[in-house]
Amino acid sequence: MPADAKSPKKLRNNRAALTHKVVYALRHPGRVTPYLRRAGRDAWLRLRHADHVRYYRAVMASDTRRNPEAAVGSRTHQRWLALGQMQFDYLIEHGLSPEHRMLDIGCGNLRGGWRFIEHLDAGNYYGIDISPDILIAAKRTLTERGLQDKLPHLTIVGDLTLDFLPADHFDVIHAHSVFSHSPLDVIEECLANVGRVLTDTGFFDFTFDRTEGAEHQVLREDFYYRTETLLALARRHGLHARFMEDWEKRPHGQSKIRVSRAAPAGEAGRP
Ligand SMILES: C[S@@+](CC[C@H](N)C(=O)[O-])C[C@H]1O[C@@H](n2cnc3c(N)ncnc32)[C@H](O)[C@@H]1O
Repeated sequence: MPADAKSPKKLRNNRAALTHKVVYALRHPGRVTPYLRRAGRDAWLRLRHADHVRYYRAVMASDTRRNPEAAVGSRTHQRWLALGQMQFDYLIEHGLSPEHRMLDIGCGNLRGGWRFIEHLDAGNYYGIDISPDILIAAKRTLTERGLQDKLPHLTIVGDLTLDFLPADHFDVIHAHSVFSHSPLDVIEECLANVGRVLTDTGFFDFTFDRTEGAEHQVLREDFYYRTETLLALARRHGLHARFMEDWEKRPHGQSKIRVSRAAPAGEAGRP
């Protein structure tokens, strides 16, 4: 997604509206056939999988077969590298250090993950994903980067209860371009459980596709939320939540929210 996705006009777009689709198709005729192909796949997969996680796992299987880097949203290898670097640089600026324990939710094929694995002490990176296909691609990335000695954990999950992980464990939890593909009940499941596995000074950063108009979705693949919806959801689960303004200047179409168990030092107020 281009960075201008955050222009005031684009932030009010409802991509599910018929008028938007018609205008978009007239402006980008070359994108009509790929969209129709996706819509056909969506209809077929909806019939087979009522449950979102199973549905999205099937989407990832289909996309990963074609190209794992494109499956996580990067059209070129150069873009895949740049998006990983952007995630990495941001967390380094926010204090990620080698002794920290990190959980990468929806780690994909380690676009950002390989850099975190390289930076962290051995055993301190934990990547989880719903897609076995992308985790196989993740192992390939790990091997290509020669990071076997870092012994990262790469685990398949079927939900975001995080119930198999220890309490008070992770200093940094990160979900990049995951909630942009998630319905609200999946996000809520994560927010209801993430506080348990965070340390009391730890934080959880997630990106989301922001709208300032009506919340909407495109097929069952892309979800657009208002910032207040996600902040309120996190607060309902007792978490401190804030919009990360400093992410907005990055050339990435999504926005970022940070949640933690308590307000960071120096920041008073309600959770
Ligand atoms: C767009 S990719 C981003 C991957 C990685 N975070 C990155 O930035 O390269 C989204 C990833 O999230 C995974 N995913 C989607 N829904 C998930 C869920 N509910 N729990 C865990 N992983 C999920 C997908 O399988 C996919 O690998």
